Amino acid sequence: MHAFSKVSAQADDQRALLAVLRGERRDPPPVWLMRQAGRYLPEYRALREEKGGFLALCYDPEAAAEITLQPIRRFGFDGAILFSDILIVPHALGQDLWFEAGEGPRLAPPMTDGLLDGLVADHSRLETIAETVRRVVAQLPAETTMIGFAGSPWTVATYMVAGQGSKDQGAARRLAYGDPHAFARLIAAITATTIDYLCLQIDAGVMAVQLFDSWAGSLAPDQFRRWVIEPNRAIVEALHTRRPGVPMIGFPKGIGEKLPEYARDTGFDAIGIDETIDPVWADQALPPALPVQGNLDPLALVAGGDALDRAVAAVRAAFANRPHIFNLGHGILQDTPIVHVERLLAMLRQ
Ligand code: CP3
Repeated sequence: MHAFSKVSAQADDQRALLAVLRGERRDPPPVWLMRQAGRYLPEYRALREEKGGFLALCYDPEAAAEITLQPIRRFGFDGAILFSDILIVPHALGQDLWFEAGEGPRLAPPMTDGLLDGLVADHSRLETIAETVRRVVAQLPAETTMIGFAGSPWTVATYMVAGQGSKDQGAARRLAYGDPHAFARLIAAITATTIDYLCLQIDAGVMAVQLFDSWAGSLAPDQFRRWVIEPNRAIVEALHTRRPGVPMIGFPKGIGEKLPEYARDTGFDAIGIDETIDPVWADQALPPALPVQGNLDPLALVAGGDALDRAVAAVRAAFANRPHIFNLGHGILQDTPIVHVERLLAMLRQ
C-alpha cells in the first residue's frame, strides 16, 4: 500500500458519517441536517446581506466555503454539505436563473417543449462550485465528511420545464406524457451533465454525494420507474464505475410505499427518508444492512421541548439495529431556534 492511501484510509476511519455510509453502525449515530447552512443562522444572513443575494453567494467560492463551514464551527456536525443549489445544473446547461425575493427560483426560457437546442451551455459555472469544494476541504476538521450533491434529473426537469416551482409539477408531467421523446432527451441531458458535475465535485474533494429528488412523489408508478428510477440508476452506475468507493445517498421525498423498489432498483449506497415515512415500517421494508438517513420532522425541531425529545427517541429506536445517519426528513426551517439544534445534538451525544 502506498503511504498516501494508508494515511487517507486512517483519516477516513475517523469520519463516522463516512463509516456508516460504508455499512458500519456507529453509536451515537453521526448527524447532519439538510439545509444546515442557511437562513436560521444569523452569520449566514449577515454574509448574504453583504454579498447581495443567494445566487451571488453560490458563485463566490470564498463566501460559499465560509457558509458551508459556519454550521460545522457552531455545532460540529459530522457532515458538511456543499453550499450551492440543485439549479446550478440548468444554469450550466444555458437557462437563465435567478431567485425572486420571497418567491423562489425562476428559469428562462421555460423548456415547455423540452428542447435545449437554443441554449448556450456554460460549464465553467460547475468549475466555480468545484472551487468551493477545494476551499472547504482545505479547512475541514479530520472527523468531518464533505458531502457533495446534485438534484435528481426528474426534480431538476420540473423546474426547467415550468420555469419555476409548482404545486403539482404539472408542466413536466404533461410533457412526459405528451412528448416522451423530447422529455427523454431533456432527462438524458440533465443526467449526463449531473454525472460530469458529480465527478468534478469528487475530484475536488467531496467524500460522499446526495441526490435530492424533492418531487419524486408526484409520479404515477410507470412514470416513476421511467423518470425517477432509470435516471438515478444510470447516475449511480456511472459514478460507481468512474469514481468507485464514493458512497451515494438517494433522497426521494414523498415516495411512500415505493421506497423498497427505489432502494433495490437504483443501487444507492444509502437512502434518505422523509418525515412522512414511519421509521419502524422503513426499518422492516429495507434490507437490514442498508444505511438509512433521517427522518426527524423539521417541525418537531421548531417546536422543541418534550415533542422534540420524543420524536428524536422514536427515530433512534426504529433504527437501533442498522447503520443510521441522523438527519431531518427535509430541510431545516428558517424559524428553527438555534437552542433546539443544540438540544438535539446534546440528546444524541449524551
Ligand atoms: O442542504 C444544504 O444546506 C445545502 C444547500 C442546498 C440549498 N438548496 C441551498 C438553498 C441544497 C442541497 C438545496 C437543494 C434544493 N434546491 C432542492 C432540493 C431539496 C429541497 O429542499 O427540496 C430544491 C428543490 C432547490 C431549489 C430551490 N432553492 C428552491 C425551491 C429555493 C427557494 C425556496 C427557499 O427555501 O427559499 C431555493 C433557495 C435556497 N437554496 C436557499 C438555500 C439556503 C435559500 C436562499 C436564501 O433565500 O437565502
